[in-house]
Amino acid sequence: MIDTIGTDIPDGEERLRLDVEDGLGILTLCRPRKLNAWSWESTRQLGLFADRIRFDDSIRAVLLRAEGRAFCAGIDITAPGGAITGRSGAERARNYYEAMRWVHERFRAFAELPQPVVAAVQGYCLGFGFELALMADVRIAADDAVFALPEARLGVAVDAGGDLRIAREAGAGWAKLLALTGRRVDAPTAERLRLLQQVVPVAELAKSARAVSAEIAANAPLAVQGIKRGIDAYADTGMAGALDRVAMNAAITLTSEDSREGYGAKAAGRAPAFEGK
Ligand code: COA
Repeated sequence: MIDTIGTDIPDGEERLRLDVEDGLGILTLCRPRKLNAWSWESTRQLGLFADRIRFDDSIRAVLLRAEGRAFCAGIDITAPGGAITGRSGAERARNYYEAMRWVHERFRAFAELPQPVVAAVQGYCLGFGFELALMADVRIAADDAVFALPEARLGVAVDAGGDLRIAREAGAGWAKLLALTGRRVDAPTAERLRLLQQVVPVAELAKSARAVSAEIAANAPLAVQGIKRGIDAYADTGMAGALDRVAMNAAITLTSEDSREGYGAKAAGRAPAFEGK
C-alpha cells in the first residue's frame, strides 16, 4: 500500500531534497541513477515539501531542478501498478481512483503553491516528468531537453493533468497530437509551442533558471503571489473538474489488461498488442 500518513523521509529514501538559500526554495529531484523515475513515494515527498514551502515566508520563489543528465524519465516502470490491490476488478478500480485522488491532492498542493515555481529542465522529460514541469509557473530548458507523454504507448492515461496543461499553453490540438501519439519533441519545438519560456545551452541552465527565480524572489511577495493566483484563476478555469475525470481515466487504464501488456512490452523491448480491455 501507499504510505498516506507518514510525515518523515527516511535516510536513503530521498526522492526530493529542499534547500533554502537567498529567498529561494530549491527543490531537487535526487534519484539521478534512475533518471529521477517517479514513484508513489516521490509523490508523498512532494506533498510534504509543498506543505513546508507553502508556510515558509523565507521562500519567495521555488526553483525546481533535477540532478543528473535527465530531469525525469517518467513513472517508475519497474513498479507497475503493484501498490494497489483489490478483491475484484471493480474494487481495484475503486482503490486506484481513491489513490489517484490522493495523488492529485499532493500535486495540487505543489501546483497551487503561493510562491511561483521555475522549472529547470535538462535531458529526458518524459511522462510524469513532463507533467511535473508543466505544474511549474515558468519553464527554462537546456537545448538537449526532450519532451513526450508516452503514456498511451504503455496503455495508461496521462494521469496528472499534463495534457490539460499543454492544452492550456499550446492549444487542444497540440495536446491531443502529443498525448495521443506519445511522440517526442525537442526543446526548440517545445518553445515554439509555448511550453517553454526560455531555451539555453546545457552549461547555462543552472545559472539562467536561478537568475529568473531570483528576479521573481526580489519582487514584493504579496504582489507576486497575487499575480500568480489571479493568472491561475483565469488560466486554470475548468482544471479541477477535468482532473477528477483524469483520476477516473487513470483508475480505468491502470487496472486494464492493456496496461499490463504495455508495461510488459516496454520491459521486453517489443511492440505492444493492445486489445482495448
Ligand atoms: N522507471 C524506472 N527506471 C528507469 C526509468 C523509468 N521510467 N527510466 C530510466 N530508468 C533507469 C533505467 O532502468 C536505468 O537503470 P539501470 O542503470 O539500473 O539499468 C537508468 O535509469 C538509466 O536508463 P537507461 O535506459 O540506461 O538510459 P538511456 O539513455 O539508454 O535511455 C530513456 C533513457 C529515458 C529513453 C529510457 O530509460 C526509457 O525509455 N525509460 C522509460 C521512459 C518511460 O516510458 N517512462 C514512463 C512514461 S509514462
